[in-house]
Amino acid sequence: MTKLLFWLLVLGLFSAAPSTATPLNDQRTLQQHFFTQFPTLSRQDFANGVYALDPDAKQSWLAIEQFPPYEIAIDRGKKNFFTPFKNGQRYQDCFVDYQQGISQHYPYWDLKTKTVVTLSQAINRCRQLNLEAPLKPTAGDLIALTAYLAFLSRDQPIAITIPPIPAAQAAYQQGKDYYHQRRGQLNFSCASCHIQNAGKRLRTETLSPLLGQQLADIPT
Ligand code: HEC
Repeated sequence: MTKLLFWLLVLGLFSAAPSTATPLNDQRTLQQHFFTQFPTLSRQDFANGVYALDPDAKQSWLAIEQFPPYEIAIDRGKKNFFTPFKNGQRYQDCFVDYQQGISQHYPYWDLKTKTVVTLSQAINRCRQLNLEAPLKPTAGDLIALTAYLAFLSRDQPIAITIPPIPAAQAAYQQGKDYYHQRRGQLNFSCASCHIQNAGKRLRTETLSPLLGQQLADIPT
């Protein structure tokens, strides 16, 4: 997933009545929408995305998990993560809590720089702090590092807070607008597929609900 997609996803989530459209209200409205639409799924089921809806797809996924093809990327990320920089420091010195899993807290609103910071950007900040050149967003090393960190966060609920300050709320709104913006030849928005048509099929694919893509964290 690209960096842009990643934060747009998180920030660009939900549809809700405009009068109550805070991120938290949007989140609750959307969760309720999907709980009603898929009453047989438990809250946790949503974290499995399309596999929660399609038993055949779930079987193939579980079979693939026996010999996960992504292990090569994760091993590469792990190796990079523990390779010291020229100054002797390592990524783990920037990400001291990495063992508990950190990627579920990204992206976040950085109060100091007043920007949204993705995990990839945080990795590059760590590099720059240690006088290393930043990695390109499409670089295999950066993707492998994020894969490794995401893997350490497996099964952890996404836990992102959007501070109640105007600039952060505006970034959220920007992402939300993007999510609902229709574009392209078919004039679809992200929401057309992952909200309005979730659970339906598009050719051979079942469309996964937005809930679970980045919304596995479910405050009660
Ligand atoms: C034409 C329909 C369509 C549109 C529009 C669309 N997607 Fe998807 N998306 C899919 C299909 C099909 C898949 C693969 C199967 C699945 O998970 O639904 C997918 C997969 C995904 C996944 C991976 C889900 C997972 O569990 O691994 C994410 C995240 C995602 N889309 C986000 C987006 C975002 C963000 C947008 C808008 C920028 C978007 N999609 C627009 C059809 C669409």
